[in-house]
Amino acid sequence: MLTAPQLRALKGTRPSTWITAYDVVQAQVAEEAAIDVILVGDSLGMTTLGYDSTIPVTLDDMVHHAAMVRRGAPHTMMIVDLPYLTYHNPGTALANAGRIMQQTLANGVKLEGGRSIIPVVDALIQEKIPVIGHLGLTPQSVHTMGGYKVQAKSSSAIGELLEDARSLSDHGASAIVLEGIPDRVAAYVTAHIEAPTIGIGAGPGVDGQVLVFHDCLGITRSLPKFARPFAEVRQAMISGLLAYRGSVQDGSFPGDRESYHVPDAEWDKFLREQDGR
Ligand code: KIV
Repeated sequence: MLTAPQLRALKGTRPSTWITAYDVVQAQVAEEAAIDVILVGDSLGMTTLGYDSTIPVTLDDMVHHAAMVRRGAPHTMMIVDLPYLTYHNPGTALANAGRIMQQTLANGVKLEGGRSIIPVVDALIQEKIPVIGHLGLTPQSVHTMGGYKVQAKSSSAIGELLEDARSLSDHGASAIVLEGIPDRVAAYVTAHIEAPTIGIGAGPGVDGQVLVFHDCLGITRSLPKFARPFAEVRQAMISGLLAYRGSVQDGSFPGDRESYHVPDAEWDKFLREQDGR
């Protein structure tokens, strides 16, 4: 299993692969595919809980799902998102991150924000909790961003992003997720900070990539522009269920191979006993 120092030391050696997961089966397949880091993202809210943003996701939701993921992938580095309003001051952040570390056996937590959350980052790292930053399009700020929009498109916004990334890196973040920013901006930030950058909708010039499980495997109904489906699992599931339904309806399922059998002698004995009644 990759550790937080190893993750940071990977920078410049090889790209790291990250995938989100929310349950045991997803965790098992991520581990079987030798993915470097599983992120139990608060995208849980959209992929699994049926919300249209990450805002309603609670700490209890995260603990419940991250504990499942850990049981499915005991040997893979697992990072868990601190959800909305659970890290607005160092004390609250420490209590909530501590709960995640103890109850899910996570290897670290991820937080959205830059210089404004440095006191929180310091408090967690001081207590030996590895921290992953998240900059650019930060879904917990959907209301103040005015929607899910590509960030850091003006010179001043690029400068702000760079300072946020520098600050997180200098304060010891193990990695920084860069979401929804132009490719040149992500590459520039990557080249100017020590912490590895993990991109999602940030182009190829970063130190690793993360995708949402459902986008990566073609389960999501409408795919975001930045994602590529590396399998067509939604269609495979629908085809499988259609075939199942058809086989039940035409009587071909279950067949002899899928049925249990009683030995002839026992069956005959049973029938004789019934007849003798
Ligand atoms: O919640 C999440 O899944 C994330 C990734 C999109 C990086 O934060």
